[in-house]
Amino acid sequence: MALRTFVTRKSLGGLGLGLQQLRGLQTFSLPDLPYDYGALEPVISGEIMHLHHQKHHQTYVTNYNKALEQLDDAMAKGDSSTVVKLQNAIKFNGGGHINHSTFWKNLAPIHEGGGEHPKDSLGWAIDTHFGSLEAMVQRMNAEGAALQGSGWVWLGVDKELKKLVIETTANQDPLVTKGPNLVPLLGIDVWEHAYYLQYKNVRPDYLKNIWKVINWKYASEVYEKECP
Ligand SMILES: [Fe+2]
Repeated sequence: MALRTFVTRKSLGGLGLGLQQLRGLQTFSLPDLPYDYGALEPVISGEIMHLHHQKHHQTYVTNYNKALEQLDDAMAKGDSSTVVKLQNAIKFNGGGHINHSTFWKNLAPIHEGGGEHPKDSLGWAIDTHFGSLEAMVQRMNAEGAALQGSGWVWLGVDKELKKLVIETTANQDPLVTKGPNLVPLLGIDVWEHAYYLQYKNVRPDYLKNIWKVINWKYASEVYEKECP
């Protein structure tokens, strides 16, 4: 593999994806959390947040970068079978990086507004589409609890139809794999690594409690950008 020289580094503020520019190849870095590891207690323990961010998310970033470098190398050599073989690693690890980067922004400490219900255009859209916020939460909790294995439950918006959706995705598939116009407003990680140390095998309790630290302000900002 050709030697790659670090040239510049910049942060993609809006996306928070920590983009690094290498010579001809963009790779990614772990974004900082917008709060301390223990700031979501007692809803999510500091130990979970630390491991989730420093170990799990970091591993997705590391393996995503590795796969992108291998892809770049394979394309330079015209090695089609390796290009195809790398697609799973790119989807899994790139998806893990995208999803977790959103997830950290979907959470906020209670003293910084975590859990405060949306009262703006998103709040109105939720009432119109689902009947009430409580009805929407119940549906997301039910779908998240029923998801087999590991994955995510999402509140998203179809940016063409201007319509809210609830979806689940398996593994680390991002919401966009369910439709090219779907933008995530709120994604809840239902992998065991997100709750097991505190909630053991009782995923419904984790889902019930996480709403106390949901950052509706962030979800509202994304919604208003997509549905001005
Ligand atoms: Fe996770």
